[in-house]
Amino acid sequence: MRKPIIAGNWKMNNTASEGVELVNALKPLVKDAKCEVVVCVPFIDIPAVKKALRGSKIKLGAQNVHFAEKGAYTGEISANMLKEYGVQYVIIGHSERRQYFGETDETVNKRTLAALAAGLTPIVCIGESLEEREGGLTEKVLSAQIEKDFAGIEDLSKIVVAYEPIWAIGTGRTATDEQANETIGFIRKRMKKVYAGKNVGRMRIQYGGSMNPKNCKGLMAQPEIDGGLIGGASLKAPDFAAVVNYDK
Ligand code: PGA
Repeated sequence: MRKPIIAGNWKMNNTASEGVELVNALKPLVKDAKCEVVVCVPFIDIPAVKKALRGSKIKLGAQNVHFAEKGAYTGEISANMLKEYGVQYVIIGHSERRQYFGETDETVNKRTLAALAAGLTPIVCIGESLEEREGGLTEKVLSAQIEKDFAGIEDLSKIVVAYEPIWAIGTGRTATDEQANETIGFIRKRMKKVYAGKNVGRMRIQYGGSMNPKNCKGLMAQPEIDGGLIGGASLKAPDFAAVVNYDK
């Protein structure tokens, strides 16, 4: 019922020409993928990567979006600007943005609503820190994010949630299959309660945090996990392709 979705998050890696090289190597490796495949690239790479993706099923995503339609926001990019370039997905509220760029639950919510209004599919990141997990606060932290980040969304099947425990991002320390499954199950249950009647049953929830060719099969076999948001392993075509082809 929920089509799995594997998305690469290049972060601040790859110039436009490097990005083109990467997707050119990737295209033949993922042509038979059964899941949805997305690459979320730096803004400046979008035009070149878009062109390179022609004729493939790989979809294009960005890594952030401003919430205003237009105006005096120097350095920012609006949802309509992304849309015009054929961008379909946009990561919102990644923990690195929350940590380094002052992203809050309020701005995550505003960006998400703006992306939806422009017809983009937001990939909204939530997750707890190591301190919070060890202090037994995971469910409390996630519940607060759930209530604030998704407020006002009419149809939640139009978004993707990425559950990314902060302690697992870029650390090589993945959540166990069971940990990830249990926490994603909690998120789904909680959202069904808070957002009853808003199509939560059809909303996809990814796992993110050091997902790679070695651990992807086990994670993707879990019933609650609908996909992955892949950082480091999305920067090498064979590695990303191995995650995309987890079912082969
Ligand atoms: P990672 O990053 O796969 O390198 O841990 C995941 C992410 O930050 O989305």
